[in-house]
Amino acid sequence: MQAIVLAAGMGKRMQQPEAKCALKILDVPLIEYPIKLLKRKRIEDIFVIVGHQKEQIIEATKDQYLYVTQEEQLGTANAVECCLPFISSDFVMILPGDTILLEEEVISRLINTHMNEKNDMTILTMYQENPYGYGRIIRDGQQITILEQIDITTENISECNTGIYIISTCILKEFLPHIEKNTHGEYYFTDICKLLKNHKVGTYCTTSPVLGINTLDQLQQASKMIQNKINKNFLKQGVLIQNIETTFISPDTTIEPGCFIESGSMIYHSRIGKNNQLLGTCRITDSAIGDDNRIESSTLENSCVGRCNKIGPYAHFRMNTDIGNYNRIGNFVELKDAVIGSHTNVAHLAYLGNCDCGSYVNFGCGSITVNYNGKEKHKTIIKDHAFIGCNSNLVAPVIIYENGYIAAGSTITSNVDENSLAIARARQVTKEGYFKNKKIPPKQGS
Ligand code: UD1
Ligand code: CA
Repeated sequence: MQAIVLAAGMGKRMQQPEAKCALKILDVPLIEYPIKLLKRKRIEDIFVIVGHQKEQIIEATKDQYLYVTQEEQLGTANAVECCLPFISSDFVMILPGDTILLEEEVISRLINTHMNEKNDMTILTMYQENPYGYGRIIRDGQQITILEQIDITTENISECNTGIYIISTCILKEFLPHIEKNTHGEYYFTDICKLLKNHKVGTYCTTSPVLGINTLDQLQQASKMIQNKINKNFLKQGVLIQNIETTFISPDTTIEPGCFIESGSMIYHSRIGKNNQLLGTCRITDSAIGDDNRIESSTLENSCVGRCNKIGPYAHFRMNTDIGNYNRIGNFVELKDAVIGSHTNVAHLAYLGNCDCGSYVNFGCGSITVNYNGKEKHKTIIKDHAFIGCNSNLVAPVIIYENGYIAAGSTITSNVDENSLAIARARQVTKEGYFKNKKIPPKQGS
């Protein structure tokens, strides 16, 4: 079966500069939720209808699907019609790109209903406590029609249209072009029901949440529900999340048992091993973390961490940083494009950028790799057992060989050989008695 996901609409009710379907829930674009669900149900042939701000939708979905452009946003029927020439399967599933299904089994049940009841069209419906905004299902004997909010005069119909349908392709191709422009100047897909009087239109009504997202409030509610589901699942799998309401984990993140996550962290698109402690507020994105690390109030992006490291508070790993095991990357340390072996200490106030560093290296407080000359970036290489004294500048390109020792306060511009001591600073001059005859000014306020 092929599927059409609608994402060309204007999303006016959101009042956001971004396209609605590209807005994120737990750092995943809204539209990826229905698409990933289809993929998990092995529906691989997916057409995404784009139009308004289409570049944003294509970028948000990493240009990995089949995109069809709806030139003018003339309504959901027109959006589906743009895709007709590409539909070759016997049935097609239609979904809005702004809709979240909490339980994916709903899709299988919709398909089963459609097949078992031999319907020409099956509508996924639901009951909503507050149905405002949804199309309502009107039943007249066997005949089903859908009334849109804008046309509703009474609020006491609570069976709602989820906007998700399966329809046989030949019926779709025959009737879609006959949908007429309504009084609001749009072609509504829901009007197809009126044309199918002599065909079998059925429904599958689900009790599990399906959320159409038209406003920021609905986006926030959907976000809370997904977050709750993900976090409770982690609790079941032995991940201790101190506060599931203030911990944000994307659906593609994996965390192994024995981890403890203190309140306030965000973990997106990452793999976290066993028995890690994430303390304070950590933001970890696109990273792989091994086992038994302790990470406190730190930001890690696109990075790899081995095991048994102590990181933070306030460390920042960015752009392909990769550290081994038993390292200490301490307070206010920034690593960028840095590879570090094991048992190395960078404990306080340091910047290591474009750096290839071995094991058992010690960086004193305030060590800096001077990697940028205003035009290009250069590499600093530091071999095992080197000792970098406090407040040293290593001006790249430069190599500190094994067991090289840099005296505190040095600015190193040439390579330092194995077992050598480099001192590169002005010698101290002490002028004895210099202030002896100078009057010491009185203390302020005295
Ligand atoms: C739609 C349904 C409504 C249903 C609700 C479920 C219609 C007319 N109404 O209403 O019955 O209860 O979804 O959430 O179908 N889109 C396009 N091109 C367009 C217009 C819209 O691609 O020209 C896309 C939008 O980007 C969106 C989806 O279609 O992803 C639904 O459009 P939206 O305007 O949100 O429809 P609703 O008012 O929510
Ligand atoms: Ca909608």
